[in-house]
Amino acid sequence: MEIKIYPLPGEKKKPKFTDESKLSFGRIFTDRMLMVEWKVDQGWFDARIVPYGPFILDPACAVLHYSQEIFEGLKAYKWSDGTIALFRPDMNARRLNFSAERMCMPELPTELFLDGIEQLVKLEREWIPASPGTSLYIRPTMIAVEPFLGVKPSDHYYFYVILCPVGPYYAAGFNPVRIMVEDKFVRAVPGGTGEVKTGGNYAASLKGALEAKKKGFEQVLWLDGVHRRYVEEVGAMNMFFAYGDLVVTAPLTGSILSGVTRDSVFKLADTLGFRLEERQIDINELIADIRSGKVTEAFGSGTAAVITPVGHLAYQDEMHQVGDGGVGSLTRKLYDTLTGIQYGRIEDPFGWIRKIA
Ligand code: COI
Repeated sequence: MEIKIYPLPGEKKKPKFTDESKLSFGRIFTDRMLMVEWKVDQGWFDARIVPYGPFILDPACAVLHYSQEIFEGLKAYKWSDGTIALFRPDMNARRLNFSAERMCMPELPTELFLDGIEQLVKLEREWIPASPGTSLYIRPTMIAVEPFLGVKPSDHYYFYVILCPVGPYYAAGFNPVRIMVEDKFVRAVPGGTGEVKTGGNYAASLKGALEAKKKGFEQVLWLDGVHRRYVEEVGAMNMFFAYGDLVVTAPLTGSILSGVTRDSVFKLADTLGFRLEERQIDINELIADIRSGKVTEAFGSGTAAVITPVGHLAYQDEMHQVGDGGVGSLTRKLYDTLTGIQYGRIEDPFGWIRKIA
């Protein structure tokens, strides 16, 4: 499908950040966005790159009432030689359509997803920061815009992509975060929507996250919604626990998001010399193993969070230090390798990099 490019009104704006090292996550947006529409009798139509700006939405439209919404997150990196690269964007295209199927939304052709993002990022390339740890975060989103209060799948959708120059997701940067195990609220249940990227999962997580923040924790580690016993995910991250060179993580049983970075950690195991095991992680056993020192490292993975070391875990008001509370050697190796590939410092033996300029 041809993507029409509309001019920016007046002078092109300059990137609104002056100090790349002070960039945080998710507050600054570039000049343009990609828009495509879908209607039940037309399919996808009118792909266009337009000036970034607010939508006019009917107050009755479905997304505002029943949360029919899905999104993705990926990044563009500027290499020191000027190359612009995306990291595994095909995985995001696939997951978007997995989410679409669960949320009764139309699937988007992968070529349109990839081509649209590529054209948009190329046009906005001067917004991509180049300092270590910075990148251009890409947020593809689909919303239901039919103005109708009956509960049913919408017959009209917007797919749009916005861009955001970012630094680290956590203010601490690549430093250990403190996480609270949530045993009151749950994020997702089997058969629900926990395994798809839909806004409602994140809305459901706010209450627990707010209480955790008040107690000084960056995020909440969710337990399974049935037994409140098995470790699931953090919300912005999948979780891993290292027992020496054996790394365990929860299996994807329907309530956990299948992270692109999670998958990349699996694929790096052989290269970096660790073993990976997907198994149910009983929180009581995990705490005992942290206390006895069997758990040597804990880290989270995510597009926004990359690899984030977890230094402390609190459960039932008791704080537990993982290893020495610092950044473990495996965590650092994973971070260095993954970001090395993303920023073109290390050769990509996996075919993960898609150079776009
Ligand atoms: C991402 O890592 O891209 C995510 O979608 C997490 C988000 C909640 C910031």
